[in-house]
Amino acid sequence: MDLIVTHQVADFDALASMIAASKLYPDSKLMLPGAPEKRVGEFLKTYSDLIKIEKEKTCDISDIDRLIMVDTRLAGRIGKAAELISKDIPVLVYDHHPTTGEDIKATGGTSEQRGATVTILVDQIRRKKLKISPLEATIMALGIYEDTGSLTYLSTTEKDMDALSFLLSRGADLKAISSYLNWQLTPSQTSRLVKLLGSVRIYQFMNKRVIINSVSSDRYVQDLALLTHKLRDLEGCDAIFSLVELPDRIQMVARSHSIHIDVGQIATQLGGGGHNLASSAVIRVLSLRQVEEKILNLLSRQLKTKFSSVRRIILDQMNSVTDEVVKPLLKKDLAARLKKTLPQRLYRILRLAGRIADENKTQAFAVGGFVRDLMMGVKNLDIDIVVEGDMEKFAKKLAKQLKGALVLHRKFKTATVVMKDKSKVDIAASRTERYDRPAALPEVDPARIRADLARRDFTINTMAIKLNFDCFGELLDFFDGQRDLRDGRIRALHRMSFVEDPTRIFRAVRFESRYNFRIDRFTEHLIKTAVSYNMFARVSGERLKEEVVLILKEKEPLKSLKRMAELHELRFIHPMIHFVPSLSHLLKRTEDVLKWYKISFPKKHLEVWLIYFLSLIDQLDLNQTEELLQRFPFRRKEQSTIRISKKADEAILNNLAKTKVIQPSRVYSLLRPLPKEAILKIMAKTPILRVRSRISDYLLNYLHVRIKIKGEDLKREGFKPGPEFGRVLEMVLYARLDGRVKTRSDELGFVRGLAKRHKRNQV
Ligand code: CTP
Repeated sequence: MDLIVTHQVADFDALASMIAASKLYPDSKLMLPGAPEKRVGEFLKTYSDLIKIEKEKTCDISDIDRLIMVDTRLAGRIGKAAELISKDIPVLVYDHHPTTGEDIKATGGTSEQRGATVTILVDQIRRKKLKISPLEATIMALGIYEDTGSLTYLSTTEKDMDALSFLLSRGADLKAISSYLNWQLTPSQTSRLVKLLGSVRIYQFMNKRVIINSVSSDRYVQDLALLTHKLRDLEGCDAIFSLVELPDRIQMVARSHSIHIDVGQIATQLGGGGHNLASSAVIRVLSLRQVEEKILNLLSRQLKTKFSSVRRIILDQMNSVTDEVVKPLLKKDLAARLKKTLPQRLYRILRLAGRIADENKTQAFAVGGFVRDLMMGVKNLDIDIVVEGDMEKFAKKLAKQLKGALVLHRKFKTATVVMKDKSKVDIAASRTERYDRPAALPEVDPARIRADLARRDFTINTMAIKLNFDCFGELLDFFDGQRDLRDGRIRALHRMSFVEDPTRIFRAVRFESRYNFRIDRFTEHLIKTAVSYNMFARVSGERLKEEVVLILKEKEPLKSLKRMAELHELRFIHPMIHFVPSLSHLLKRTEDVLKWYKISFPKKHLEVWLIYFLSLIDQLDLNQTEELLQRFPFRRKEQSTIRISKKADEAILNNLAKTKVIQPSRVYSLLRPLPKEAILKIMAKTPILRVRSRISDYLLNYLHVRIKIKGEDLKREGFKPGPEFGRVLEMVLYARLDGRVKTRSDELGFVRGLAKRHKRNQV
């Protein structure tokens, strides 16, 4: 029997090479030395029914008469399989790494410099015309994608591209591949990606979608290949051409994911080179337009059809949005609704804001969530005002007339007026380039507020209401916010929305659950893509925590959490949180316990979000919980509740679950050191009624039991003030809880007994 083995901490190329080797050597068993890389481990867990690989600990290697090593030639990296090398059995090696002095002497196999080891094995599989399943093709392709940085590393060879092309034709699943690959963009790459999206043209050739995008740059774009991959994922297409107009030439990178589009041939025609799936060129003699025309002609020839439609996507960034033709607005007068629905005080503030804007010869608008909720008839008293022009002057006047305190954030061009009753009005300057020149008098220009609204998250949050006297109450709706409100749709404004601000991934879910809306398909695709890029790596723990807390503070957090699980968002809280049925049941029970608590104690304050959070992280062990506390800046009290809950949960549950009678004082002493939030989490965690009723007895009855005697009484009985006092009073309380004392004189009698015993002990 053959043993196929790879190196420790196996990556996808190692796994792929083992699977490929098992096709060439079917009478073999596969062994992983030690644990593989995390993502490989996750992959193997998902496909454990289909992929049979033995663990080093349990794998019997006594009957092995041939060893096949893949992706390594170092004996020190193959775990216990190294024992076989000295046994004088044939050892075959398949590897793509450069040679070292420590390589073992192989009796066969093939070692060549390729981007990935699996490429060498795929080549042999093809030559032998062996059949492979789509799953096998997917794993092998994953190996090539990973080890070649998706064909972008310099080590990539034509053979890797060839192998990939073959695997795609054998059903390799790109969707599965991209969900396991982990390409993270640095912030500067992200901003370049945003720029690359500057002008995307989508061409449809029958059922093939081709994207051409172009930007100008004064420098060669080093990571154009990687950015092109990202862009392809964001847009979803069969082929993509990225063009960069440099001062003296045009840089092109092209990628294809269709066997019908050979981007290598197109690059060759433009003076470059490459392969049918990946190519590049530097073009010196043609203009950008000519290059694009040439690409389109060559594509027409390859696909034997002309493109039927072209959709031009204009940069959704502020500066170019203003170049777009402003579409006619839906006129809607909300003046009457404002007057009817708002508390008089707020209505007056809006009127006053309009008057100040008139005086300042500027325009002011109510915007954002306030308008959204007004349209939906939902109460929202947080007014957000956007001012075109001199925001500071506006804010100062408003604060003065409202006799409120003004807090200016010059850096962010925002201000807050805080009134005596602590209510607030937030003011922001509409962010136009011209605002930076405060001397210039702002003109009334709808494109300005439009540009401000265009940068926002979802269409339902982009409506604005004019506040100036002449047009008070007029609605601005540039992005069909009303239609989406009516249809219950959460729609992002542009494809880079989640790349620019990943916290919107959570906001989308929050609004979806809150209003019972649905995230539209394209927006969902954008979320999933952003999630797969691990966008949150760039977001501060503070902002992330804020968003999680906001979700947990909503009315029905369970709905959001389910949705977050569907969209794979929970891993940003901690990668080990899996929305398995037991977690879903725990969260449901948490919801029930909280309802019970609210009915039982309607006036008591509770950090509801923290209880949901404790349940959400129930699967994490102590170390993982510490990791979480490192990442998110919880307040000290919150941290302590999280730690206490994590440490005490199990022990307390075990104690409370005992079938024999437990004295109330025992329940009290177990639960008293815990914050209420941790107690309610324990209550939710257990499905055992006995435990639940013991906890509810504690909250409803024991917690409020008070003793009648005081320190003075103890002094009279000869106890000295100090820690002893506390202990005696606690004993009296326990006696009262357990029904051993009922009145003040019972308590005094109990204390006297204690004092006697105390004296005897001292003597
Ligand atoms: N906004 C955004 N992107 C974000 C956060 C906010 O575009 N990541 C914009 C939205 O237009 C939003 C407005 O800023 O309406 C105000 O944000 P915020 O007060 O956080 O949210 P609201 O929409 O008012 O929602 P909520 O009811 O939850 O406060």
